[in-house]
Amino acid sequence: MFIPGNDSMKEILKGQNNFISNASNFAAYIFQTMKDINWIGFYILDGDEMLVGPFQGKPACVRLTLGKGVCGTAAQKKEILIVPDVENFPGHIACDADSKSEIVLPIIKDGILYGVLDIDSPLPARFSHEDANELSESLQILIESSDLEALSIYYQTSSE
Ligand code: SME
Repeated sequence: MFIPGNDSMKEILKGQNNFISNASNFAAYIFQTMKDINWIGFYILDGDEMLVGPFQGKPACVRLTLGKGVCGTAAQKKEILIVPDVENFPGHIACDADSKSEIVLPIIKDGILYGVLDIDSPLPARFSHEDANELSESLQILIESSDLEALSIYYQTSSE
């Protein structure tokens, strides 16, 4: 059973404020405990694009453009997006043909966007509003545990 926002996540992230380290363990923990998902990972803001960060699952698209696809739309709108059928989402970017539904949560601290958390499922309509609430709680633990300013400085210097 996946119990987000619980003591396990706090325990896993305790004593470390490096986002990449914390996001790696965050992704690994949820990948191990949440049922019926085939990909979980982070896309981190880099100008008007996002660059792939720590993830679990098959190798993924490296760069996404703000405003495009599910991740880019969630980032631009700064809203959680639940997509029950990815084939019906205009501009959906297919990194893994197995993915049928998707949830994307923006990473926002003090009103500033740093990227998104993306989770894919091989099942249609896998993600509920309850999942969104629970994942938001977990993501909040990650955001509060990590130095996001250091992250954005590091990622803004990336290149092709
Ligand atoms: N499907 C996403 C792209 C990222 S992958 O699923 C890992 C999108 O449409 O933005």
